[in-house]
Amino acid sequence: MGRVDGKVVLITGAARGQGRSHAIRLAEEGATIVAVDICAPIESMNYPLASLEDLEQTVKEVEAAGGRIMARQGDVRDRAQMKAIVEEAVAEYGRIDVVVANAGICPARDITMCSSFVDAVDVDLLGAMNTVAVTMPHLQSGASIVITGSTAGMIPGLTEGIAPGASGGVGYAYAKQAVARYVEVLALQLAPHMVRLNAIHPTNCDTQLLHNEDVYRAFRPDLAHPTREEAVAAFPAMQAMPIPYIDPVDISHLVVYLASDESRYMTGMNLRVDAGAMLKTSFGVSR
Ligand SMILES: NC(=O)c1ccc[n+]([C@@H]2O[C@H](COP(=O)([O-])OP(=O)(O)OC[C@H]3O[C@@H](n4cnc5c(N)ncnc54)[C@H](O)[C@@H]3O)[C@@H](O)[C@H]2O)c1
Repeated sequence: MGRVDGKVVLITGAARGQGRSHAIRLAEEGATIVAVDICAPIESMNYPLASLEDLEQTVKEVEAAGGRIMARQGDVRDRAQMKAIVEEAVAEYGRIDVVVANAGICPARDITMCSSFVDAVDVDLLGAMNTVAVTMPHLQSGASIVITGSTAGMIPGLTEGIAPGASGGVGYAYAKQAVARYVEVLALQLAPHMVRLNAIHPTNCDTQLLHNEDVYRAFRPDLAHPTREEAVAAFPAMQAMPIPYIDPVDISHLVVYLASDESRYMTGMNLRVDAGAMLKTSFGVSR
């Protein structure tokens, strides 16, 4: 018996990174996966988003783990598109039990005034809310929703330092802080229906969102074009534990727990997997 046997799980941003890892771990535990990813560029981004080949790779790895999967190209900013995908999934599998609103971006280029702020909020906050809105009508007692926030987004001034002069890091922080509040407010409304809503806030995680020059420069402001090696040397300053970053699977383990009935009375929680990063801020330890 898997820990989420028979559950149907919708995951956004599932073509790579944390989303793919969640899909594989949940499939290993018996879930059927509905994987959604934009697989297209967003103009204000300085690093590429996932490709259709990435999404196909997720399909292969979920199937190799013994799972069933439906994968669709979809943009969480487009509520009508998300609704159509969810309805297709319900027609195919009969239900949705778990929602993992994981898609996220940290854009750093203002094409027009504050466009990277708008894009960050559209994907990271409204995209998560769209995902919840279109799945909620299908959720039954026992369902679980998980939204991916960010520890860095909660620490004042941190992501704001990504690409100074552009507004995307500010939008990112705003969106992730709003997610934390949204989870508490909506969880209380969902609780009488026995539907749960929680957020996970990762610290630096070993994915493309971390591995790009804007983030590297935020950690190495002394260098114009820091290499991966130079940035990784500075990454441990973020956490209390002496590590540069966590792995996607470290988040997936918590996703599996929150998706499973093991966490049946946990709701409205903002849970950090951050190797002590937030404690450094709380206790005033300098980075
Ligand atoms: N990597 C980190 O250090 C870190 C830290 C804290 C929080 N997070 C959050 O974790 C989540 C997952 O990011 P990741 O680290 O796996 O990075 P990632 O860039 O590898 O994955 C993000 C995925 O979301 C997809 N996506 C982006 N915009 C989309 C949209 N509009 N519609 C559908 N899909 C879209 C991308 O194509 C990509 O596959 C994000 O919400 C991110 O903000 C990441």
